[in-house]
Amino acid sequence: MKVSIPLTCFVLCAASSHVSAQPTLKESFQNYFLIGAALNESQFSERNAAEAELVKRQFNAISPENVMKWEAIHPTPDTYHFGPADQYVAFGEQNKMFIVGHTLIWHSQTPRWVFQDDKGQPADRAILLERMSGHIHSVVGRYKGHVKGWDVVNEALADDGTLRETPWMKIIGDDYIEKAFEYARDADPDAELYYNDYSLEDPAKRAGAVALVKRLQAAGIKISGIGTQMHVKLDRPSAQLVDDTLGAFGELGIKVNITELDVDMLPAAIKENGAGVELNAAPSPALNPYPDGLPPSAQQALTDRYATLFALFVKHRSAIGRVTFWGVTDADSWLNNWPVRGRRNYPLLFDREGNPKPAYASVIETATQANPSAL
Ligand code: GLA
Repeated sequence: MKVSIPLTCFVLCAASSHVSAQPTLKESFQNYFLIGAALNESQFSERNAAEAELVKRQFNAISPENVMKWEAIHPTPDTYHFGPADQYVAFGEQNKMFIVGHTLIWHSQTPRWVFQDDKGQPADRAILLERMSGHIHSVVGRYKGHVKGWDVVNEALADDGTLRETPWMKIIGDDYIEKAFEYARDADPDAELYYNDYSLEDPAKRAGAVALVKRLQAAGIKISGIGTQMHVKLDRPSAQLVDDTLGAFGELGIKVNITELDVDMLPAAIKENGAGVELNAAPSPALNPYPDGLPPSAQQALTDRYATLFALFVKHRSAIGRVTFWGVTDADSWLNNWPVRGRRNYPLLFDREGNPKPAYASVIETATQANPSAL
């Protein structure tokens, strides 16, 4: 079905007594799982009023795209920059949304000083643990009772499922993960605490994640959920791998969250070179094949991909707590600028004007077609 309701209609229709016949995402999945979106500042500050309305209408969970990352919220040793995060949390509370905190301990978007002592030399275990504890207590403590779930540790696994050699791991040791979860539990005993990572559908990395969760559980460490980011392609990971992964995570007895869903529609542009991964390669027509919109065949492929994914989420709904998209409209997506700047990507359910794409209807259909008695 081709749906084309201008975004202004969302605003006007929401303001008037007219109710659109199209069910919303959060209504459609209300008996299954929460539906979330990662928000940027222009959305949660409502500077972009149209997108803020779209968020209120469609989603009942939110994640902060950047404002709670270490470099944003704690830029220098003695400075916390809470303003935008406060505004993000206020937006969620005003709209009765499930508010996610993202992310406490990660190797990326974390300032260099975190890993250094006050002379600029590499920090030792004691210094880094103290810094980790201070950061987690300050940030989680500030939003205690308001942020309902935290991505405590992000991306701690390498592709082969072993622990990634981040500065956290090298300086503190493998137990930096246990420590982070303990500090977070101390700072807000009622918040849900998650481990979050990408490519967890790859069997080796999935096995590493399962082992990590079991390790924490065996040590009596509180862990409430595992987040699989699901930044996916049209053809990868396969439906079978997604199914297997949701099944395996479901057996861990904790919530399974899809935390950063999007479907990259553009050719892969990451090249492995001697120095590692090459990012921000120069844009070229071959790397940016849809500057004027998706042709019907690509639109259909996106629609089918979303239908397949959501059919699997519905199948595993008893384990899944939340499905969150990484962005709201195609205009906001990080995939327009990563790994190549200035491309035109189409990874989400709403187009650049905020209109639902055909994939939106296919997603909604998976909810209405589900047969609860099959559970
Ligand atoms: C990772 C992080 C997110 C975000 C996305 C892409 O998956 O967890 O915070 O940076 O990449 O933007």
